[in-house]
Amino acid sequence: MDKLVVFGARPLIGEVKISGAKNAVLPILAATLLTDEPCTIKNSPNLRDTNTMIRILRSLGKNVEFDRDVIEVTSKANGKFTAEYKLVSTMRGSFCVLGPLLAKLNKARVSLPGGCVIGVRPVDLHLKGIEALGAEVKIEGGYVNAKAKILKGNHIYLGGEFGSSVLATENVMMAATLSKGKTIIEAAACEPEVEDLANFLVKMGARIEGQGTPRIEIEGVKNLHGAEHKVIPDRIEAGTFLIAAAITKGKITLNGVIWQHLLAVIDKLAQAGVRVKRTDGRMIVNAKTRLKPVNITTLPYPGFPTDLQAQFMALMAVTPGISIITEKIFQDRFMHIAELNRMGANIQREGPHSIVQGVKYLSGAPLMASDLRASAALVLAGLVAKGRTDISRIYHLDRGYENLEVKLKALGANVRREKE
Ligand code: EPZ
Repeated sequence: MDKLVVFGARPLIGEVKISGAKNAVLPILAATLLTDEPCTIKNSPNLRDTNTMIRILRSLGKNVEFDRDVIEVTSKANGKFTAEYKLVSTMRGSFCVLGPLLAKLNKARVSLPGGCVIGVRPVDLHLKGIEALGAEVKIEGGYVNAKAKILKGNHIYLGGEFGSSVLATENVMMAATLSKGKTIIEAAACEPEVEDLANFLVKMGARIEGQGTPRIEIEGVKNLHGAEHKVIPDRIEAGTFLIAAAITKGKITLNGVIWQHLLAVIDKLAQAGVRVKRTDGRMIVNAKTRLKPVNITTLPYPGFPTDLQAQFMALMAVTPGISIITEKIFQDRFMHIAELNRMGANIQREGPHSIVQGVKYLSGAPLMASDLRASAALVLAGLVAKGRTDISRIYHLDRGYENLEVKLKALGANVRREKE
């Protein structure tokens, strides 16, 4: 197992190219199950999660080649309709093969994703959506068993207790593409990754309107053909680098980004005193300024993303004053607090709120990563801490960041990967 060793207190300076979006490439790969024809997915990030999804497609009979950032999915699937526990349990995102398998084969058997450290993550909305399309669903042996003689379009309200669901919207939208008649999804997730998936489906011949809004309309078609698609840039990776510049008081240019996907983040950074210049496909952040405390509340898109909450907390941990960080999407997404406090931060949790009292400095320490975004926050804290920080279990980081330490080193960071 690898760990990262970080020596802090150097401003990050230079340019970084942002990779394709993890949370777009995963459902897009799952969507290739909707056709027997070849698909080409460009700007694909080489991540642990991407490779897990590729293993699932191969287990369902697809030929998949991954060369640099291009994934070629060819060949007819082998009629298998089971996504195994051993793969699905390692990555919740793989649950989005349910919709495509059901639509293409009229049956699907997908392992329930199981527990997650960031919160209880039920799949009731996914099941409600496919049942509304006429599927018969049974939970047995830890698997969702779904089948349908025919899927029929329907008008579905998909809002949950915490608002819209990204993967549930994606699963139901994919199932509806080959259903009979029209489906309307209300309270659909508006995330750019949902929109990117819909745009890929449209290239495959699907009839979809309203993607990127809370009301998506899908007119079912008989079948879908192959297509080529370039995945959108990863706004969460981009946001992580914006905060890395702010926390190290550096100056970074981010290339290959869609800044419109980060307006809520840019707004909060501006409130904290960090200005982000934006041009076509590029953002320039110059953070040689005195930071101010800011409160954030995580919300579904276009609100402040929960996937940047931990990173923003690391920034506020070294910002003079008090900020309140409220997590409204995943109630337990605070595993990073204890680790940041080990570095000398002063953060108290009160239910969904965390009260962050900024400290003058953090000191390097041995830390343990607990989940993907928490591990990114620990890396950012290590970049500004005095001395050496060791972050173990970085397999969490590799799930969602492509060559993070290589990119950081190119910006002048003193960071290296080591065997534990
Ligand atoms: C997606 O997860 C992302 N994952 C997550 O990114 C991201 O944090 C999340 O959306 C929110 O933006 C992928 O796209 C692969 P949700 P998803 O369903 O779809 C509740 C990362 O770090 N809910 O939108 O699983 C749920 O418990 C990962 O890259 C139900 O109640 O999240 C949560 O409170 C982590 N019933 C809320 O909705 C359901 O059936 C939003 O979750 C489904 C969800």
